[in-house]
Amino acid sequence: MPRGETSASVEAAIDLTVQMAGVEFRNPVITASGTYGFGSEYAPYCPVEALGGITLKGTTPEPRLGNCVPRLAETPAGMLNAIGLENPGLEEFVKTVLPQIKELPTQVIANISGFSVADYALMARTLRRDSGLAALEVNISCPNVKHGGMHFGTDSQSAETVIRAVKQETDLPVIAKLSPNVTDIREMARAVARGGADAISLINTLLGMSIDVEKKKPVLANTFGGLSGPAVRPVAVRMVWEVAEAVDLPIIGMGGISSWQDAVEFLLAGASAVSIGTGNFLNPSLPLDVSTGIETYCRRHGFSSVRELTGLAHRV
Ligand SMILES: Cc1cc2nc3c(=O)[nH]c(=O)nc-3n(C[C@H](O)[C@H](O)[C@H](O)COP(=O)(O)O)c2cc1C
Repeated sequence: MPRGETSASVEAAIDLTVQMAGVEFRNPVITASGTYGFGSEYAPYCPVEALGGITLKGTTPEPRLGNCVPRLAETPAGMLNAIGLENPGLEEFVKTVLPQIKELPTQVIANISGFSVADYALMARTLRRDSGLAALEVNISCPNVKHGGMHFGTDSQSAETVIRAVKQETDLPVIAKLSPNVTDIREMARAVARGGADAISLINTLLGMSIDVEKKKPVLANTFGGLSGPAVRPVAVRMVWEVAEAVDLPIIGMGGISSWQDAVEFLLAGASAVSIGTGNFLNPSLPLDVSTGIETYCRRHGFSSVRELTGLAHRV
């Protein structure tokens, strides 16, 4: 014991590490795709090494300018976005983004989107273990692009097919990101499990819209957008709960997390880790606050490992 410390002042270390699909994350707090850049943008508020991992902005085979503006709108307790997968495309991603992420002191998850099974397969073939990535998150749930993305996330047969195609092409663990815009999320979870997914992340945004009553037209140029933020959290927690009962795969829970209490709620519902998206825009040090808060909660409740929280609410 270091000099000056009494046994009462030595706090037991809490094991915050989680393992998912063969990847070890130093803590269960990850940042959500499309909301955190490459992590370095937030470094003054939240050191990258304090994060369990970062999920990169969605990449498509070809560069995309995204949808026309306005493509963001504030809503009560949340926001609508219709960015439309703006990204530099796979070739540029490989050339400029991958070399940067190799230096990042955290686990980095790439997020891929496509408009056909062949699109997804092409990206999976390119993004393999030697790229420095920890895993591939397959976005089959983007509500903001026409003819693609969400189609795969709302039809269980298509979801299974696309995940199987990705699995066949990459040696990276595959995380299937589910859309909440379905009648039965358990059916989608079972489908991606059959396709070979190593983990499931949920939820993506809920399809919504907003109308400017003075202009008498939709606020977003795209008419529809994806709702995120605290407004969606109860839906997300319910879906994590249902998926945890439906399949035996690790879950990354997200949707409206804005405090450590929200994150603990997802863990108790069955998630092994959580992702933070919209909350970063309001508080750029939120991932750090959440991680510290989870640690304090574990200590207060006598848990030596954060892994003990996963799914606990199903058992008590
Ligand atoms: C501005 C914005 C951009 C997003 N871009 C992506 C994306 O490229 N790929 C993806 O899978 N999800 C994307 N999402 C969805 C988030 O990753 C997350 O699933 C969703 O927002 C729910 O979490 P939250 O309420 O914490 O934001 C985006 C969300 C926002 C708000």
